Amino acid sequence: MGRLPEVMQYITGRPETREETQAAIERVKARWAEWGYSWWAFIDPLRNRVAGAGCIQHLGRETHHPLEIGWRLHPDYWGQGLASEAAVAMATFAFDRLAAPVLLAVRHPANEASAKVMERLGMRYRGMEAWYDTQVAVHELTAAEWAVRHPASG
Ligand SMILES: CC(C)(COP(=O)(O)OP(=O)(O)OC[C@H]1O[C@@H](n2cnc3c(N)ncnc32)[C@H](O)[C@@H]1OP(=O)(O)O)[C@@H](O)C(=O)NCCC(=O)NCCS
Repeated sequence: MGRLPEVMQYITGRPETREETQAAIERVKARWAEWGYSWWAFIDPLRNRVAGAGCIQHLGRETHHPLEIGWRLHPDYWGQGLASEAAVAMATFAFDRLAAPVLLAVRHPANEASAKVMERLGMRYRGMEAWYDTQVAVHELTAAEWAVRHPASG
């Protein structure tokens, strides 16, 4: 996925090299071991292939920063509601298992597809902020707001 320009367009703006992807995989493995959360792979069991990936991690990669939720899908899996379905599962993990007080999501301001996933999850637009060395649109969801939408959770 990382080598596809359409996947990376609003993330870094350029395709990843194999070495960068490998380094990211190593980083993610280390975080699972150290923190117990990081990026998941979304597997299509019918075709036995990766459909996408998503994360609960810290903004700016610093543990004293708030938790961030994120997603990306292989283009073969766009337009089917899978990112939104995964977002609910990952948010449930963050609020129930990690007791997160708030969850943030950041996107390139032109990334409308991702904005829609954030809105479907119930996130509020908070404004433009500097994260990851750039200005990003920030969306926010508090545990109290989540509990109203998902009363069975928590
Ligand atoms: C962001 C990204 C994951 C969104 O993918 P997506 O397929 O649009 O999002 P979802 O999986 O939630 O699917 C929603 C779409 O599927 C449609 N859909 C079809 N069946 C559906 C179902 N059962 N439930 C919900 N939506 C459904 C919706 O109508 C919607 O399409 P629309 O936006 O044209 O109305 C995808 O564009 C992507 O991977 N982009 C590149 C990486 C990226 O930018 N990641 C985010 C960085 S901030």
